[in-house]
Amino acid sequence: MIKTTAKNLEEMTQIETIGYLNETVQPEAGTIPAFILADPKVYDIEHKKVFMKTWLFIGHESEIPNKNDYMLRDLAGYSIIITRDSENEIRGFYNMCTHRGMKLCRADKGNKSSFVCPYHGFNFKNNGDLIGVPLQKDIYGTDLDKSKLGLHKIRIESYKGLIFGTWNEEAESLSDFLGDFKWYLDILAGRAEMEVVGPPQRFIIHSNWKVGADNFVGDSYHTMVTHGSIAKLGMVPSATYSKKGYQIHTMNGHGLNLGTPNPDFAFPEELKSEYKSNLTDEQYDVLANLKNMIGNIFPNLSFLISHTKVKGQLISNTTVRMWRPIGPDKMEVIAWFLVEKNAAEDWKKRSRDSFILTFSPSGIFEQDDTEVFTDITAAASGPMPVMKELVYNYTMGMHREPVSDFTGPGVVYGDKFSEANQRNFYRYWLDLINA
Ligand SMILES: [Fe+2]
Repeated sequence: MIKTTAKNLEEMTQIETIGYLNETVQPEAGTIPAFILADPKVYDIEHKKVFMKTWLFIGHESEIPNKNDYMLRDLAGYSIIITRDSENEIRGFYNMCTHRGMKLCRADKGNKSSFVCPYHGFNFKNNGDLIGVPLQKDIYGTDLDKSKLGLHKIRIESYKGLIFGTWNEEAESLSDFLGDFKWYLDILAGRAEMEVVGPPQRFIIHSNWKVGADNFVGDSYHTMVTHGSIAKLGMVPSATYSKKGYQIHTMNGHGLNLGTPNPDFAFPEELKSEYKSNLTDEQYDVLANLKNMIGNIFPNLSFLISHTKVKGQLISNTTVRMWRPIGPDKMEVIAWFLVEKNAAEDWKKRSRDSFILTFSPSGIFEQDDTEVFTDITAAASGPMPVMKELVYNYTMGMHREPVSDFTGPGVVYGDKFSEANQRNFYRYWLDLINA
């Protein structure tokens, strides 16, 4: 229970709501109020203070491999065009014609060197320059300065093929934002040349985005129960397989759970030298002994390397997934399947099978999880006099000290059953809301 102020949440101004968040979101005490998963005002505050301020995932460079490829993406709820221009540079633009504001591009992806507005035909090169205006001389004379009418450019940066963008011109560099967490992202996305297979899977579920981030940033505890059936089916070694390993978090709310050891090398044997050339010895050791790796880059990009038995053989699959908020109680899940580009075609196919069996709309883990995510969100939208007082318990592992026997950076705990990562996630979330 939390202390209540006289006003109901619906009656509070945005400033009062931020004050109430400061009273009630107490990661260090292990309490997080339930209303933050459902309240429309909290959703608006988050949009302004979190999603408009921080780096957000956009896609993988391999999705636009050729010159003049482009893809349409979303950045904090706004449509943007990502192009690989004719000089091979990846660029981002707000998807709006600078003449009258029409949405310039409406196809999900394709290949073209310029974009013609469907309203009046203004033509923009894929580097953003306005290059053509129908009947320009006749109707504008010599006064129209096309150089001032280029597309609005978006700040984008990549790390190991992962493209991020931000609306915040003042934001630190992507590299600084990721900080020590890059050590783990190297294993995820930089261990070999990686490519995305197919377009990302997209599906909408009635869940607040933070439930997904919270689950992936450090909740291995649920796997014994929520995913108990997969152990019974023999697709994973045992029901308690999920505790062993490390829980790790770094600054800016990032965190992961790293499952280890694993007796079998679940990656393609023939790529060992490629892995070794891309990773440090310590990182390679982690990869070689990896059972699974599941985490979240703040705020809403989760990732997973997991191993599943496909036709009796243990095989890994790698996915990154975004919990894209589209309302307090609704999100689009966008899931990219990543695979080693230089692996054998047969291995790639089996890795994809392993992904589809586990995490995708048809996957057994995904179906287990989304059932929970939607019910948590529905319960958080309960009657206001009650919801104003209900809190979640995030005290797991508060009695424990970090360990120092692990080679990677960050605050490391000696097994995966802890909520230190979730406390770290909500600490940074609240810091941004107060910034
Ligand atoms: Fe799960």
